[in-house]
Parts: sequence; structure tokens; C-alpha cells
Amino acid sequence: MAMTSKLNVEALRREFPALSREVAGRPAVFFDGPAGSQAPQRVIDAISDYLANRNANHGGLFATSVESDAMLDDVHRAAAALFGARDAECTIFGANMTSLTFALSRALARTRQPGDEVLVTRLDHDANVTPWVLAARDAGATVKHVEINRDDCTLDLDDLRSKLSPRTKLVAVGAASNAVGTVNPVAEVCKLAHEAGALSFVDAVHFAPHALPDVEAWGCDFAACSAYKFFGPHLGLLWGRRELLESLPAYKVRPASDDLPGRWMTGTQSHEAIAGLGAAIDYLCELGDAAGKDQNSGAGHTARKPSIRARLVAAYDAITAYERPLGAKLLSGLREVADVRVLGITDPARLAERVPTVSITHRRLSPQAVAQRLADRGIFVWHGNFYALEVSTALGLEPQGMVRIGLLHYNTPEEVDRLIGALAEL
Ligand SMILES: Cc1ncc(COP(=O)(O)O)c(C=O)c1O
Repeated sequence: MAMTSKLNVEALRREFPALSREVAGRPAVFFDGPAGSQAPQRVIDAISDYLANRNANHGGLFATSVESDAMLDDVHRAAAALFGARDAECTIFGANMTSLTFALSRALARTRQPGDEVLVTRLDHDANVTPWVLAARDAGATVKHVEINRDDCTLDLDDLRSKLSPRTKLVAVGAASNAVGTVNPVAEVCKLAHEAGALSFVDAVHFAPHALPDVEAWGCDFAACSAYKFFGPHLGLLWGRRELLESLPAYKVRPASDDLPGRWMTGTQSHEAIAGLGAAIDYLCELGDAAGKDQNSGAGHTARKPSIRARLVAAYDAITAYERPLGAKLLSGLREVADVRVLGITDPARLAERVPTVSITHRRLSPQAVAQRLADRGIFVWHGNFYALEVSTALGLEPQGMVRIGLLHYNTPEEVDRLIGALAEL
């Protein structure tokens, strides 16, 4: 059952300065990744190096601007590889996923008419709900909500099918739930959307720290993620099909370029954060190289340097192979703790349908009380609804929400044991 790990977790943890933090004389346990992961030193260095050596606005003829633009081009290429896309000009950077989604939703609203319909889901973060709801309202379009199966927190695909119609213009779906960890059948949802003549938008924010986005395999029209969830700085990423990005009426100022990606990157960007994103993708690529090295050792490999995409595929294979047994350990440990109820998929045979983001409730203590007691013991978890308001409401958990334990590839079995021990003590 247990897959052999190709990650040297002890070594990679040393790259993350934050992970050496102590609370009350013991190492802190960072299970807060779904709200933002920690950053490796090279990301921190890339940001400072940009500000120290290349800090310039876009499009100048002088050295720092030329170097800065070269860096931007490189990172657009790396971001395209992360999305599984070929066209670097179709990757857009912005403040965060929410802002980018609002910008896209407003542009799409300008193409809508009263009577058009938009589908959002009860499993999604509000950043993949409210931008579409408000844009539909502006255009006089109707919004329909796809329900979830409450027992395992999966999307109700029959409900989705029943709500699609020739009037549906967009289906917005999450790749993975930031509250209960469910991984959605994105390719199937996008296929259903296209069969109905609708566009599809995939929120890959919670997916990207655990698994590699693949816009081609998903067959989606747009996808978005956030660098600060996968070891980078605060920065949003959006990918879209070229013909749509070129033709949609983006909100932009007149002097700004009408070419891609500029027409969607309004205002001056955080170039230092983009440099940091480049370093985060580089970090992931090197995880892939290290995992691949073990596999190929002794094979007398003389092949060309693999592509960024191939290196990322190797990295995420190694991440999944490490995270899945760790998630299984967490779920089996939680099963033994009296008073704790786990939300979402718990069946060990179905772990491929979830990421190791596990939310729980406690029979006697509020989510806030549990999070506080864990914080006192140096274990960092989030409580509340994490903006996944629809899920929390659908599960009857509002206003208190739940406690979320988010595992990433830098977490360890010992940390899981500490959490289980602490929960048992409550
Ligand atoms: C699943 C999901 N979607 C969207 C967002 C919003 O991302 P951002 O903070 O980049 O706007 C989050 C943030 O937590 C998220 O978890």
C-alpha cells in the first residue's frame, strides 16, 4: 500500500527557513498550508535579488528593464508549463486569484444577455462563486448552484447534468476543495459544459500544491491558481485559451498594450513576486530532478535536459507518492480520536479522490477552541469556513465552520503523530 517516497523531506525542509520556528520550546507544526504555504530560501532570495539588481518597469531600453523583461518572459514560460499549456503569452499574472477572476468575470459579463445562465458549485471557494454571481447580476443572467453529496462531500454530477441547458454560458468548477479536500472530475465537468455549449473555468488554487494542473487534459477554457499556495509569493496566475483572451473585452487603460498577456495585466505588476514565482517553479523542478535521479541512477543517462513540464511531472509524482500515505496516516489517526468527526472522503480505497486537506469537527469543542488549544501546543491549523462558505453552509456548519488540517509535502509523520496526540488530549 505505502508508496516509497522519492522526496528527501528532511533535506527539503532545511530549505524553508520558517519551518525551523519553535513555539514553547518545540518545533512549530505548519498545518496551515491551504491558507498559504511557507517559502523556500530561493524564493526569498529571488525577490530580494530582483529588487536589488533588476528593479525596473516594463518595456524600457536600458539594462535593468531589459533584464527584468527577460525574467518576465522566462516566468511566463514556466507558468505555461505549470498549467500544461504551450502558449506562454496566455498566462496572466495579477494580485491574486480572486482579483483575476473578478476581472475575467466582468469581461465575460459584457458578452452576456438576460436569460443566459451560469453554473457555480457548493463545493467551491467563494472566489469561484461570487465573481460569477455578481457578473451574472450585472448582465441580467441567472446563476444555478450545483449541489454536493453531503455524505462524502463530492460534487453531485447528476445535479450538474440536470442544471446544464443550451442557455448555460459558463461552468465554474474547482479542481480541489480547500475545505474538505475533494478532487473533482474536472475533465468530465468541462466535457459536459462544452457539450452544452458553455465555457469552463477551473479554480486550481487548492489543487496546485498537491497535483499538477493540466489544462489540455481538463479541456477547460480558463484556469487559475495562486503562487503563495505552492511555495511562492503572493501572486495570482490565470491561463486562458488564446482566442478568448484576445477577443474578450478586457477592462484596461488606453495606453496599455492590447496584446497578450498585457491586455489582462492591468497596472504595474509585482515583478519581484513574479521573480519569486519563477523560483518556486524552479524549486518544484528540482524536486522532480532529485526524484528522477534516484529512478535513473546507474542507467547511464545521457539524454537532453528534460522540459520544465517533464520535471514538474516528476516532482508532482513524488509529492503525491509522499502525501497520499501521509494523508492516510492522518485519517486513520483521526478515526481513533473520540469526539472527532472527519468531513469528506475517509475511505482508504478512495484517497485518489482527495488531497490531504482534512477538516474535522469536535463533538464538545468549537472549531475556534480546538484551533486555539492546538495553537497553544505549537500546531498551526485554521478554523472557520476558509471562504468555502457554500460547503460550510451545505454541511450545516455555519457560523462556526470546521477545523482544517492541511498537509503539504514538507510535513512529516511525526507531526501527524503530534497532532493526533494533542487532539486525543483535548
Ligand atoms: C480553492 C481556492 N480558490 C480561490 C482562493 C482565492 O485565492 P487568492 O487568495 O489568490 O485570491 C483560495 C484561497 O484560499 C482557495 O483556497
